[in-house]
Amino acid sequence: MLDTEVRELMQSFVLSDYQVQEVYSRFYAEISKGLKRSTNSQATTKCFPTYVQDLPTGDEIGKYLALDLGGTNFRVLLVSLKGHHDALVEFQTYAVPKDLMVGPGVDLFDHIAECLAKFVAKHDMKNAYLPLGFTFSFPCVQKGLKEAVLSRWTKGFKCPGVAGEDVGRLLHEAIQRRGDVEIAVVAILNDTTGTLMSCAHRNADCRVGIIVGTGCNACYVEHVDQVDLLDHEFKREKKQVIVNCEWGAFGEGGQLDFVRTEYDVTIDNKSINPAQQLFEKMTSGMYLGELVRLVLIRGLQKKAVFKLNPRREEFATILEENENIFETRHISEIESDTFPEFANTRRICKQLFGLEKATVEDCQKLKYVCECVSKRAATLVAIGASGLVNKTFDRKVVVGMDGSVYRYHPKFDEYIRETMHKLVKPDKTFDIMLSEDGSGRGAALVAAVASKTK
Ligand code: GLC
Repeated sequence: MLDTEVRELMQSFVLSDYQVQEVYSRFYAEISKGLKRSTNSQATTKCFPTYVQDLPTGDEIGKYLALDLGGTNFRVLLVSLKGHHDALVEFQTYAVPKDLMVGPGVDLFDHIAECLAKFVAKHDMKNAYLPLGFTFSFPCVQKGLKEAVLSRWTKGFKCPGVAGEDVGRLLHEAIQRRGDVEIAVVAILNDTTGTLMSCAHRNADCRVGIIVGTGCNACYVEHVDQVDLLDHEFKREKKQVIVNCEWGAFGEGGQLDFVRTEYDVTIDNKSINPAQQLFEKMTSGMYLGELVRLVLIRGLQKKAVFKLNPRREEFATILEENENIFETRHISEIESDTFPEFANTRRICKQLFGLEKATVEDCQKLKYVCECVSKRAATLVAIGASGLVNKTFDRKVVVGMDGSVYRYHPKFDEYIRETMHKLVKPDKTFDIMLSEDGSGRGAALVAAVASKTK
């Protein structure tokens, strides 16, 4: 049994039914605000129209290149759409060195172009002139499929010279500077759009795309009449458009203050983008591990965790001195553990903190801390997901989901469903589907659908 000290320690992470309902109402109102031209400027969730108006049929064919920037790695992909809802994806992963994430934008785009050129050379495609879809997973104001102006950096990127610029043009210029590849950028998209498209490719009921990875965000299919920011010419023939909510920014207007903890405030204060992306900082992989570290520091001070461990003082020092030492993947590993072995928990305690003799009780408590942090994240994601499902016009809605947290955490899916069952309207049914390579296949599908439209 867990004692009251650790329960008290984690109390502020446990959302009551009232809090869940209240966050839901505020979130729903915020999306409505984002969609209206008159209120968009005050809305935290910007609800950007993506200009993607056709969902895939499954019959798409052809070869496409894709770029994927916005998570931990950068990838170049070759996607062969084969019809019959089928696709083959080959890719190469390249690291994005830390200095490129915060250095001049030109250097970042030169690096992207270099990786692309290497990939094209390796696959002997220099003269193939393949169309390219660029999955650029940051908030962008789109002016069409090919034009995307970055509104702000998120997730630890902060390259001067890019915000306010069209990233399609920056990529094009970087490719031109090299002069050794000829590529046509036909679409720029968010990873949530890629996720929705790749799930819709397999399941025609998919209407929502969600990422819970390094960052956290969602998009959904909305009726054009609801989307004030979409120009009239795009409303004549087609009746729907994918809207990129950018829900990571929710809370910047104070909407989440009543549930934010002292740890959330600390995370935000020491981040590269203070006062921004507050919902993201409570839900995504970039921050969850660090939240656990901060809670453990407090827990050790209060003797709520590792109370009797002889090395608790050293443990506390290691935790205090090493920011980000506890990573989000450790949460997933610890929550995968079974009683009383706690094999992962013991290994992590030893590897990270040199703690050899964690007791069963120590392990139970550490697991509980992780559970509270990840369960709150999943509950918040579920609140957003339910809001979007309820907003769509369809009765049966499939939610496409991806991202390292969703993919690798043993119970995230279960936690999300639990809350969605409480919040999705009774006249609707929903399901969640794991996306298969949304950033690659999704990018190719957007490119394919774009050329079909032409
Ligand atoms: C951040 C970005 C958003 C992206 C999400 C998931 O929230 O702003 O565009 O979709 O991370 O990668």
